[in-house]
Amino acid sequence: MPEGVDPAWLAPAALRAVGSRRTLIRGSGPLVETVHGEVAEACRRFGGRVVRDASDDGPYDLALGLGTEGPELLGEEGFTFACEGGTTTVTACGGRGLLYGLFHVVRLGEAAFSGERSPQTHRPALALRMLDHWDNVAVHPVMGQVERGYAGGSLFWEDGRARGDLERVRAYGRLLAACGINAISVNNVNVHAAEARLLTDRIGEVADIAYALRPYGIRTHLSVSFAAPITLGGLSTADPLDEVVRGWWAEATRRVYEAIPDFGGYVVKADSEGQPGPFAYGRSHSEGANLLAAAVEPFGGTVHWRAFVYDHRQDWRDRATDRARAAYDHFVPLDGEFAAGAVLQVKHGPMDFQVREPVSPLIGAMPRTRLAVELQVTQEYTGQQRHVCWLGPMWSEVLRFRQERGLPVGEVARGGLVAVSNVGDDPFWTGHPLAQANLYTFGRLAWQPDAEPGEVLDEWIGLTYPEASERLSAGLHSVLDGSWRTYEKYTAPLGVGFMVQPGHHYGPSVDGYEYSPWGTYHFADRDGIGVDRSVASGTGFAGQYGAPWAGLYESPDTCPDELLLFFHHVPYGHVLKSGKTVIQHIYDTHFEGVEEVGQARSVWASLAGLVDPARHARVSERYEEQLRGAREWRDQINSYFLRKSGVPDSRGRRIH
Ligand code: GCU
Repeated sequence: MPEGVDPAWLAPAALRAVGSRRTLIRGSGPLVETVHGEVAEACRRFGGRVVRDASDDGPYDLALGLGTEGPELLGEEGFTFACEGGTTTVTACGGRGLLYGLFHVVRLGEAAFSGERSPQTHRPALALRMLDHWDNVAVHPVMGQVERGYAGGSLFWEDGRARGDLERVRAYGRLLAACGINAISVNNVNVHAAEARLLTDRIGEVADIAYALRPYGIRTHLSVSFAAPITLGGLSTADPLDEVVRGWWAEATRRVYEAIPDFGGYVVKADSEGQPGPFAYGRSHSEGANLLAAAVEPFGGTVHWRAFVYDHRQDWRDRATDRARAAYDHFVPLDGEFAAGAVLQVKHGPMDFQVREPVSPLIGAMPRTRLAVELQVTQEYTGQQRHVCWLGPMWSEVLRFRQERGLPVGEVARGGLVAVSNVGDDPFWTGHPLAQANLYTFGRLAWQPDAEPGEVLDEWIGLTYPEASERLSAGLHSVLDGSWRTYEKYTAPLGVGFMVQPGHHYGPSVDGYEYSPWGTYHFADRDGIGVDRSVASGTGFAGQYGAPWAGLYESPDTCPDELLLFFHHVPYGHVLKSGKTVIQHIYDTHFEGVEEVGQARSVWASLAGLVDPARHARVSERYEEQLRGAREWRDQINSYFLRKSGVPDSRGRRIH
């Protein structure tokens, strides 16, 4: 780890179990060298020994090797793990599999070397486990170096240039491999002028990043502008059916692969929030995506085409337009029309990464399209890495959700799981040291979408604090485990979403987006609140689901409480399944949320002396801000609804 950088979930002591043993490594290739380097470094620190390709110097405690058996079972990324006769064995068919196998042993620690275990097979459920960086090359006047970034500058770019410091990028790759991530897109989906050129004359800078990430099995991808043939190529059109345009993309892509032979492909935000796209030429989004797929397919690349397409210039007076409907309305008619090299990348919810949304109905409604599901690890709407909000339980709910064909989202996402990264050049990587748990959890859930998030959290605790006492582990678990629900309690209620300060999205502003063009409204009046998305009387969004969800969401009687205001406009006196009225629920949860933050802050304070001082201080400082912020949310929300409804708190607490 570079000097002064937090080791995150590869704390040196986490490698003690491996580093204090005799290890044999068999096989060759760049990733086998990485595995060797990892083990050798751990041995240097902890006194163990590593031998290459010898068979006469045994016995060994750990044997890591490439084998030829079972490639159809293991693939490039899988491995078998066994512990028999005093030797722990990891066998893989490919270098990545061996690397993941090594990190599996690291996660198990001493337990990897005790007892007898017959061979177990491990392989990722999803082939693509990817992070999108919303990093700008040049500092954007409004969004800064990293759009929605809360962890300092970019690891890759600084003031318009690539950073020289690739050591940090390499260390990042190492952390990502240790939680199973295998792909990165290195620039913002909003492609501005400087970033656009990464595709052409600045591709060398991307190649340098790819070089630093490759030893950890991570492929590099690039966000590109659909208008590139015009802005970079000087053509008069970017029409996807124009032969000259097709030729331009083919040639540009050929050059990309010349520079980066294992390049992953393109990410495209088209016709979305002002980005150019095929609509300008009267073409469909499958025609747009297929243009780029044709360019990357000969090289084995993929186009990640985002489904985040909606009208961001809506008239708030227009009650018929519903942003939640947009992705489904645009894309479901195109099912079956996307080329094999195109993946449609869908945000997990129909709106925009709110603390609570239903699962997007698009996921499950396009059986003939390869879908990737997009999550947001960067905490844009969930406390911006000043608040503790561990999102594992939310993502797990999403990934287990089953739509009409009965498959969980984690299986429908055949194109992979993608997330917006929360990492920057901050010494703790993620600004808030506890936000590292979100990144780790994302990687592990992408590997195994049905994993128990609580177990993943404990894994993260074990790797980040390998020498933790029981008290420390329990304390860490308790401050993180319920933090998403706590955050939900003190922010926008019952799935209604937003109520944030416009622009930067931090802190409360109940009506901040109420009369804006963004399509994000709550419609609170003196009688009630919520968006009627029923088929019977509302926007019809509920009807985009299959059975049983369409029926459940359609009626306020059957709609789950936590999504009630997403789907229905109800009176403040509406009684929830919990037995409380909506207005009393709002008051109670907001008081509770603040109390829970206060309790978590005390737990954290009690861990002083058990956590290294710099980390402890950083988290303590952020808890002060979280408590201040939670109080502000509570008081604005409660006061707003008391004033609107005139209904007093049944418990007579102070509301302003
Ligand atoms: C959100 C976010 C934007 C981002 C957009 C996207 O709306 O606020 O910064 O560009 O999502 O996902 O494209």
